[in-house]
Amino acid sequence: MKPEYVDYAEYYDQAHVITVDIPFYVDYALKSGGPVLELACGTGRVLVPIAEHGIRIHGLDLSENMLKVAMEKIREKKLLELVSLSHDNMAEFNLPEKYYAMAFIAVRSFMHLFTQKDQIKCLERIYEHLRPEGLLLIDLYAPSFKRLTEEPSKEFSYFGEFMLPNGNRVVQKRRYLGVDLVNQLNTDELLFEEYQGDKLIRSKMLPLTTRFTFRYELELLLEKCGFSVEAIYRDYNMNPYDGTGEIIAVARKNAA
Ligand SMILES: C[S@@+](CC[C@H](N)C(=O)[O-])C[C@H]1O[C@@H](n2cnc3c(N)ncnc32)[C@H](O)[C@@H]1O
Repeated sequence: MKPEYVDYAEYYDQAHVITVDIPFYVDYALKSGGPVLELACGTGRVLVPIAEHGIRIHGLDLSENMLKVAMEKIREKKLLELVSLSHDNMAEFNLPEKYYAMAFIAVRSFMHLFTQKDQIKCLERIYEHLRPEGLLLIDLYAPSFKRLTEEPSKEFSYFGEFMLPNGNRVVQKRRYLGVDLVNQLNTDELLFEEYQGDKLIRSKMLPLTTRFTFRYELELLLEKCGFSVEAIYRDYNMNPYDGTGEIIAVARKNAA
């Protein structure tokens, strides 16, 4: 059965308090001058700070729930003139504007495309929407051989906890469901247990699948789809890729 991305929009912003990548994307967006296209923009974690720097940006995402959270922030911060959103699949979108200066896919979201065919479709769609020499940034995790040889786990392990704005506490647990080496898919199962005081009021369980992609595979995909790779970094401080951490590709659409 083909895996699907299942969202947890109601917990995302509390479960992922990641800010380390934001200056990286804001700097590139400012240098590009905009407009910028963000694929899989989610709740606007990176999109909102870019718009706050005065850059026009369009965000698309497959999850209406994530987009709803993003739209609340955009309204609250009065950024409606700079931001537009659309409910789209990053492998199939077709937007009216086709002259973006930069496109990006943050925090490993490209890995939610589960086949190479969909990855290529996505890169071709991006190519179509960028101006000549427009910039593309993609961030993946570097596949870990330790992880790829790990046995699936039967039990959930404690992963952390966080508070919701309404005062409820959420305990997050995870278990590793294993790897599909043929299709390059890794699956974890996430469990969110929401407590009001000491009372468990809700449990939400969902699979989280990512298609791991190696550095030179990504480079070939980009080149096949009309991009030249300018750099591959291991982190947002632009240290060169060393086989660990992230695979952050900086690529440029070839001039026509
Ligand atoms: C880990 S979240 C990252 C959200 C956001 N990029 C961030 O940096 O916080 C992954 C996002 O990818 C979106 N997504 C998954 N598959 C998608 C697809 N095929 N097309 C568009 N968005 C997709 C999900 O809905 C979710 O919002």
